[in-house]
Amino acid sequence: MNLFTVIFNKFSDFLLDNPTLFNNIRFFLAGDQKNTKKFVYDNIKKYKCNSVYDLGCGTGDFSEACPKNIKYLGTDISPKYIMYAKNKYKTKTRKFRIEDSLKNTKISKYDAVLLISMLHHFSDQEVNNILLAAKKRAKKIVIIADIIPNPPNLFKMLLAKLDRGKYVRLEKDKIKLINKHFTIVEKRIINSKMAVQFGAICKV
Ligand SMILES: C[S@@+](CC[C@H](N)C(=O)[O-])C[C@H]1O[C@@H](n2cnc3c(N)ncnc32)[C@H](O)[C@@H]1O
Repeated sequence: MNLFTVIFNKFSDFLLDNPTLFNNIRFFLAGDQKNTKKFVYDNIKKYKCNSVYDLGCGTGDFSEACPKNIKYLGTDISPKYIMYAKNKYKTKTRKFRIEDSLKNTKISKYDAVLLISMLHHFSDQEVNNILLAAKKRAKKIVIIADIIPNPPNLFKMLLAKLDRGKYVRLEKDKIKLINKHFTIVEKRIINSKMAVQFGAICKV
């Protein structure tokens, strides 16, 4: 890793640690992720999910992708993000909790587990552990959406390179990791403004 990359990564970590800045930068790059949210919403409906566990919910943005009447729990390791999510989205049915999903052993089951923009932050071994954590909690499906490095547009490709996630994998490499734990029943490429994601519905 060269000096520029080290400084750039440190600077972006510093900025993105702030929930408001994280949301604004992501909105600039990926808009309001309307298509990814629709992918999540449609599949929660399709598989008749009444409860959702959002693993690594960040600032809670994807709680809005879930139907209002179902039980939603967003968890994240970052107290700052969880405080922001609670202030903005908490309702009687939408709850948020600080949790390291890899360490917590008090596990409840949910119809659907969300893994949104998670995988590209982790090594293969860590992704295995995250998929295992999702599997332990999912009754019906796991919904995955994660950025790809090779969108059909040079500018979008450059943005994918600048993402602070160090493991932006090709679709086929994501599938290889997912297949160790789940059966993928649907997959698609999702365009969200300048970001391009791979979306998968995984059956437990
Ligand atoms: C890029 S953000 C995605 C946030 C959210 N899913 C979204 O799309 O808006 C990745 C999140 O994973 C969280 N995270 C990382 N490791 C975690 C762990 N072991 N348990 C729970 N959350 C974790 C980070 O704090 C961060 O908020």
